[in-house]
Amino acid sequence: MELNDLDYKILKNKTIILGVTGGIAAYKSAYICSGLVKEGAKVFPVFTDNALNFINPVTLSAISGNKVIIDMFENQEKIYHIDLAQSSDAILIAPASANTISKIACGICDNFLTTVVAAARCPVLIAPAMNESMWGNTIIQDNIAKLKELGNYFFCGPSEGYLACGSTGIGRLEKEEKIIESLINLLEINDDLKGKSVLITAGGTKENIDAVRYISNYSSGKMGYALAAEAKFRGAKRVILISTSRDIAKIYGTETYFVNNTKEMKEKVLEFFDDIDVTIMAAAVSDIIPEQTYDYKLKKNQDIISKLKFIENENILKILSGLKRDNQVLVGFAAESGENIEYGFEKINRNKIDIIVVNDISRDDIGFESDYNEVVIIDSNGEVKKINKAKKRIIAREIINEIIKKLN
Ligand SMILES: Cc1cc2nc3c(=O)[nH]c(=O)nc-3n(C[C@H](O)[C@H](O)[C@H](O)COP(=O)(O)O)c2cc1C
Repeated sequence: MELNDLDYKILKNKTIILGVTGGIAAYKSAYICSGLVKEGAKVFPVFTDNALNFINPVTLSAISGNKVIIDMFENQEKIYHIDLAQSSDAILIAPASANTISKIACGICDNFLTTVVAAARCPVLIAPAMNESMWGNTIIQDNIAKLKELGNYFFCGPSEGYLACGSTGIGRLEKEEKIIESLINLLEINDDLKGKSVLITAGGTKENIDAVRYISNYSSGKMGYALAAEAKFRGAKRVILISTSRDIAKIYGTETYFVNNTKEMKEKVLEFFDDIDVTIMAAAVSDIIPEQTYDYKLKKNQDIISKLKFIENENILKILSGLKRDNQVLVGFAAESGENIEYGFEKINRNKIDIIVVNDISRDDIGFESDYNEVVIIDSNGEVKKINKAKKRIIAREIINEIIKKLN
């Protein structure tokens, strides 16, 4: 197999799990294994039982220098699936059967390969190969769409052409070279924020009025958590998440601090800011706070109306823009009713920040509380990029892409 001029150095010493499933194209995994080994990768082949019907494991053992793992319970000295999953830089499944793809999408762990994928934190590249009718099957397409939205599952192929069953259509395993190129790209984006420290705020602040009441907003914190997951995925050495939302599962490898109100959030952000390369203020910080906070419950009829006065809140973003060094990237969010790009520009100029992300909170299907968002990313150079409705993790990827341009 001839490899082209791409930078293959990134493969050197990388630990790659190569999953092989039961399909005609299984023999091509030998070429892929050989291509990876030649570039210095440490390849650990994993077969499903059904792959054994199509290729002899001796081939991949010999090429990789590592025994092919098939049986979940063969290696009893250690918990091997966890050990291997967590020491790997990437998992490549080529060819990936419809069955294995669907099982992964459903979190099924009934063999070593699906279990290792479920335990992994590294990127998973899936190269499907199957009959065109199977590829066109709505359930299988739904499973693929579900995986694509999660952020760490990527697909390469299939391509169109002559299929083993005798028909022509989409379903052929992508060319081996292309699969290796996709893996290289994936390892590269996985390293984008290498050495960088990223701080992200998430959720809506709660500003106490009295002992029982507070003002807040509908921000769920999901966008901030998605950004933290993506920053970690892109190789940041340190990801600090400062959140008011406590009911989202913590993201592995990030430092999470919980705060309640603007004052606590500001103090926590300032504690770290000097050492941070990228700060993303995704939290919805209240614009106003009660002039005075009461430590008892205000009485309904007499107290509340007369005593409740609001003042403008501190603006954390503005404070940070005053402190920011040129080599620090500062990103703000503007939750607006409608796609208010002018306001985004105004905010970016007023606050001396690098990127502003405008999202429309007037729609029910995106923004606050939703798993989806649709945003406009405005850069301090005046560039505007609209990102269509997508899962927040995918939106986070686009935002981090723009941040990486600023860092370079
Ligand atoms: C000759 C033959 C070829 C097959 N080729 C494919 C294929 O290319 N893609 C696929 O998804 N399934 C294919 N299958 C069906 C799978 O082997 C079957 O769905 C199996 O359960 C997959 O198991 P696995 O995902 O654990 O490897 C083929 C079956 C046979 C008998």
